[in-house]
Amino acid sequence: MSKGNTGLVVALTFVATLGGLLFGYDTAVISGAVSAIDHYFIDPQHLAQTAASSLSGWTIASALLGCVIGSAVAGWVSTRFGRKGGLIVAALMFLVGSIGSAVPELGLGVIGQMGPAALTPFICYRILGGIGVGIASMISPLYIAEIAPSEIRGRLVSFNQLAIVIGILLVYFVNWFIQSLGTPQWYFDTAWRLMFASEAIPALLFLALLAFVPDTPRWFVMRGRTEEALTQLTRVNGPERARSILADIERSLHVRSERLLAFGAPVLLIGILLSVFQQLVGINAVLYYAPLMFKNMGASTNSAFLQTVVVGAANLLFTFVAIATVDRLGRKPLLVIGSLAMAAAMFLLGGLFDASAVGLWALVAVVAYIAGFALSWGPVVWVLLSEMFPNSIKSKAMAIAVAAQWIANLFVSWSFKVLDGSGWLNHHFHHGFAYWIYGAMSVLSAIFVVRYVPETKGRTLESIQELWHAHRRDNAAAVASAGE
Ligand code: BGC
Repeated sequence: MSKGNTGLVVALTFVATLGGLLFGYDTAVISGAVSAIDHYFIDPQHLAQTAASSLSGWTIASALLGCVIGSAVAGWVSTRFGRKGGLIVAALMFLVGSIGSAVPELGLGVIGQMGPAALTPFICYRILGGIGVGIASMISPLYIAEIAPSEIRGRLVSFNQLAIVIGILLVYFVNWFIQSLGTPQWYFDTAWRLMFASEAIPALLFLALLAFVPDTPRWFVMRGRTEEALTQLTRVNGPERARSILADIERSLHVRSERLLAFGAPVLLIGILLSVFQQLVGINAVLYYAPLMFKNMGASTNSAFLQTVVVGAANLLFTFVAIATVDRLGRKPLLVIGSLAMAAAMFLLGGLFDASAVGLWALVAVVAYIAGFALSWGPVVWVLLSEMFPNSIKSKAMAIAVAAQWIANLFVSWSFKVLDGSGWLNHHFHHGFAYWIYGAMSVLSAIFVVRYVPETKGRTLESIQELWHAHRRDNAAAVASAGE
């Protein structure tokens, strides 16, 4: 590939990864606003403690519900309006969600005077923003995979994960900065609104840049716009290769019907399990509750905040390791290495809690765990989800797998709080029980990868499709010979 072409692909990838940046930004912005939300919406209701914390928990988690909805409709959106059109819808959702969460009273009452009466619109705007996250979480990697040449596809899709992680870190800093500008009263009145409003800046940038990107060749072919597909492929791959890729795409789209299970259930099941395992290893229990975890270890609030930043930085740093190695080492070795590192780190952490021996070693274990995730399951799952499904079922199948991921995320984030709040478990495991489970899940995830996940490194999307055909043929032959 010539230099100019690489430049074009990188530029298009950059625009698509802004969807990833907003994904990270929007899911983590809430961490800075939790106590202000309690102060403005929840406390004035004078509820009993359990009812108050459950309402607060729902208010915070409501965006994740939006993510489930967004990823579930993303397949339809990306087929109907195109990959580019879907990203535009997501950018608009980010914008509306951001402004609406900042001033949920808009059009309903005086800003700052409505209190709990503005809670329902606030939740609705969070859900809308979440729908944007859900749509972008599926379409950004899909877009990148569909424009990328196969030899650098893994690296380019990993950039999306890098953007997610940068978004998380960026909003930690933005929140910290905004909150440092005024008094505690100002934080309760204004700062939290600015935190949500700040998201409008990357959202507007995303929207503006999307005006300049084309749709993907695979979508053009799906819509019968072959000329545009060929132009796009030629710009990236040169004329000769473009024609052969176009022929492959056309074959992959027309050979089979669009039935979801046309390639058998395993391909869909493996996609769903990749997503679910990415969450069951406990990443968001650690990321969303890091300050709480460090407090459980006996840290002061300030030091818990600092250690959280260390976790965010490690997440960013080790994502680079994946980017550098995913197209050379391959997807499977990275996943297995990551699983084993996470299992060892989680068992160490569980043991440290058990022995009430937390301290520096616990921080080391958490950082090792994050490093293990960041160099493997974080980026690689998105790479695999974007490339493993055959073209004709890709958008539907990917949307299902991504929706499964958000549901698993919701489950883990909610159940961690339940496990951590159980008096019986804490008596026996000293707040360490959840980590034993995440360690066991990490071991299971390694076994799953070794046994069931195919290697896709360096193959074109169309030849990956052939893998599943072969898989089906092998299975059919095995069944036939068993019957003889
Ligand atoms: C996962 C998110 C997670 C993030 C952390 C992503 O790949 O999908 O759930 O919060 O990685 O880096």
